[in-house]
Amino acid sequence: MLATSIKILNEHYQSLNNEGIDVIQGLTRSAKTLPPKYFYDDRGSELFEQICELPEYYPTRTEAWILHQYADEIAQITGACELVELGSGSSTKTEFLLDAYQKFASYCRYIPIDVSRGILKSSVIKLQQKYPTFFIEGLIGTYEQALIKLESTFAASRLIFFLGSSLGNFNPRECDDFLKQITKTLQVGDYFLLGIDLQKPKEILEPAYNDTQGVTAAFNRNILSHLNWRFQGNFDLNLFTHQAIYNENDAQIEMYLHCQKSHKVSLEALDLQVLFADGESILTEISRKFDLVIMQNQLEIHGLKTLKTWTDPKHLFGLILCQA
Ligand code: AVI
Repeated sequence: MLATSIKILNEHYQSLNNEGIDVIQGLTRSAKTLPPKYFYDDRGSELFEQICELPEYYPTRTEAWILHQYADEIAQITGACELVELGSGSSTKTEFLLDAYQKFASYCRYIPIDVSRGILKSSVIKLQQKYPTFFIEGLIGTYEQALIKLESTFAASRLIFFLGSSLGNFNPRECDDFLKQITKTLQVGDYFLLGIDLQKPKEILEPAYNDTQGVTAAFNRNILSHLNWRFQGNFDLNLFTHQAIYNENDAQIEMYLHCQKSHKVSLEALDLQVLFADGESILTEISRKFDLVIMQNQLEIHGLKTLKTWTDPKHLFGLILCQA
């Protein structure tokens, strides 16, 4: 019998009484922002999967290459353990790790965590068929909810992994809070595997976030349609254009939606009316690019000691395995 299971931690991102507060805060600032977590309704998650296949978007395929090369080594270092993936999406790259762990232990517990129910459900079903001896339990929720609710493991140790450089979508304070929560969740001896996009020339970075097929533009604008259905809004997606620029001082891609015409938007469920001026922008995402050594130091400050790092021949992307 297949042991497929999906648990909903919280269907909404926050408890009902403060849901959307972050949207109100972001849209009432003088420089408007939106939290990137609102990209990921089912449509947004599908668009993100398409981004990962784009010729210009190198991070996914580069990280997959590194995992393909070194998954066995990672599994050898950690030994059999419970696997917890934060922001698992379609779990495609994860299969390299699952293949490697299958070689060392016929039984393994894998817990993928994602906010998008559709993509999580289909990946759990697919993986359970491919790895029938694994116990796979998907959790629908945010990282914060998932880390708080993770039950103690019966396995000798646990490996939490956070791939795709999703850490880059946190600002430095959020990054710090996230690493604190990781350290709090891990027991001494547990492992943390982190994938990070490395600093590189803007000639590579900007095309990766301004693809010629317009998939990233559709992904960016989809945040507005998500807000429309979630909060009964009336954003007109045609009035916003996408742009991503590399801010070299802060080593981060900044993704914007530029308003093409002054107009008013309302989000009824939030009792919010927002005025947009012609040319005004909403910052929808930052994607920070890292230095491998600085990141190892930062992890060390949080009590996570680097065991090994891996990268690709062009040093586009890095993987760090550390231990609490
Ligand atoms: C999920 N995250 C790591 C992606 C990134 O590269 O920052 C999100 C993304 N935004 C535009 N393209 C991809």
